[in-house]
Amino acid sequence: MAVRPIVTYPHPVLRKKAQPVTDFGPELQQLIDDMFETMRAAAGVGLAAPQVNVPLRVIVVEYAQDEHARPERYAVVNPRIVYVSPETEMGTEGCLSIPGVFGDVLRPRSVVVRGQDRFGKPLNLRLHGWLARIFQHEIDHLNGILFIDKAVRVWRESQQPAPQEAVERV
Ligand code: NI
Repeated sequence: MAVRPIVTYPHPVLRKKAQPVTDFGPELQQLIDDMFETMRAAAGVGLAAPQVNVPLRVIVVEYAQDEHARPERYAVVNPRIVYVSPETEMGTEGCLSIPGVFGDVLRPRSVVVRGQDRFGKPLNLRLHGWLARIFQHEIDHLNGILFIDKAVRVWRESQQPAPQEAVERV
C-alpha cells in the first residue's frame, strides 16, 4: 500500500467525468488499498479516485457515526444514486482537494446507492445523515462536480463561519 498525492483544485482531472470500471484485477485492488491509506493519512472520511488522479468510478468512505462507534468502511465501484429522499438537510462540507475552504450544501437526507464491491459483487446501500452526505459528495467527484458548485455559501478557513453554527469537515 502507498499514500498517493491528492490533486487539488483547479487540476483538470477534478472536472472530468470518470470512466466505469470493467477490470476488477490487481490494479483496482491496489488503487482501493492506496485510496484507503491516502484518505486516512489526510484524516478524511471519503475519497474519490479522481482525487488521486485516476479517472475511474471508484470511491472509498470510512466514517464513525460518533466517537464510540466502530467506523463503517466502504469501497464502492461504479456507484450510482438510485433514490434520494424528499427531505433535505443543510451541512457544512470541506474537500481534501480544496484545502482550507468550507461551504454549506443542501442535500437529500437519505439516499440509496447501488454499485459493486471491490470484487465486482453487486451492492445496494441505504444511507442516512452524514454517511449519505459523504456518498453524495464522493459520487459528485466522479461526475466532475465539486461541493463549491452546490454550496449556498463558501468561506475560507481563515474567515469565521457565522456564530452558533457547527462546522463539520468531510
Ligand atoms: Ni471532495
